[in-house]
Amino acid sequence: MKILVLNGPNLNLLGMREPGVYGFDSYDAVCERIAEHARSLHIDVDFDQSNSEGGLIDRLHACMGVYDGVVLNAGAYTHYSYAIRDAIAAIRLPVIEVHLSNIHAREEFRHTSVIAPVCRGQIAGFGPVSYLLALDAFAQTAGQ
Ligand code: DQA
Repeated sequence: MKILVLNGPNLNLLGMREPGVYGFDSYDAVCERIAEHARSLHIDVDFDQSNSEGGLIDRLHACMGVYDGVVLNAGAYTHYSYAIRDAIAAIRLPVIEVHLSNIHAREEFRHTSVIAPVCRGQIAGFGPVSYLLALDAFAQTAGQ
């Protein structure tokens, strides 16, 4: 199984960005932890990050025929990007939405995810473990 872990805006600043909310682990450290977990599940994993909406959409399009699924933290785009929602629907690949923080316990505008209806599921609130749980979900639902 080949999975892309795709991160959106400001997630490259993990570790320095609001550590009280997002933790002290850097983006690279989080990716390394995900890669290690992927190896234990025999999942091939690649990583990408873009701060722009178009960059994320281009990357999602390029997943067709290459990956079996995507773990996506779309950052703030989660809450309002119909273009990313449409891209997820268009590629017809399972996408699991993840968030480090529990978006439902934060500001009102974060309670809405416009991508959730076109995602396989949503995992939020477990810090970097949210990504690991998404890989577990892919591993345990393979072929379903
Ligand atoms: C986030 C939550 C979003 O509301 C926020 O804009 C982010 C990160 C998370 O991982 O908790 O950039 O997706």
